[in-house]
Amino acid sequence: MTKINLTVDGVVYADDVEPRTLLVHYLREQVGKVGTVVGCDTSNCGACTVDLNGQSVKSCTVLAVGADGGQVTTIEGLEGADGSLHPMQQAFHENHALQCGYCTPGMIMACRDLLKNNPHPSEDEIREGIEGNLCRCTGYQNIVKAVQAVADAGVTA
Ligand code: FES
Ligand code: FES
Repeated sequence: MTKINLTVDGVVYADDVEPRTLLVHYLREQVGKVGTVVGCDTSNCGACTVDLNGQSVKSCTVLAVGADGGQVTTIEGLEGADGSLHPMQQAFHENHALQCGYCTPGMIMACRDLLKNNPHPSEDEIREGIEGNLCRCTGYQNIVKAVQAVADAGVTA
């Protein structure tokens, strides 16, 4: 076991983990952040996407020990202090950008990261920006609309 310290959604955690533990499993099983989901075993789907030190990462591709000392934001850390939805969550809701919803946490994290790096993307840039996230319901059209709505509103948080 190895001791790690990690800030997750603003709370500091100090835990013992096995060196082989993936960040996604640490977040779900030890921290209880089950909003971050596992959709594949092959690093393909993006359902496990979180923000690590300001960068969007697939948390199934990162060892928990590799994130030691870092800052993680999960889908559960996006809501406002008053419980309000993050603008990207609100836009997904308003634009019907989710069907089964399984991909949604990772998709929202990736879309948020996309606008952070490119506040006014073209439709092609949005599609390219989320190519690492798969929606098996093929709901991409409304996901693109949701991102455009947030970009049009000038919100990049
Ligand atoms: Fe991480 Fe699919 S669970 S990419
Ligand atoms: Fe079902 Fe994306 S909404 S996988």
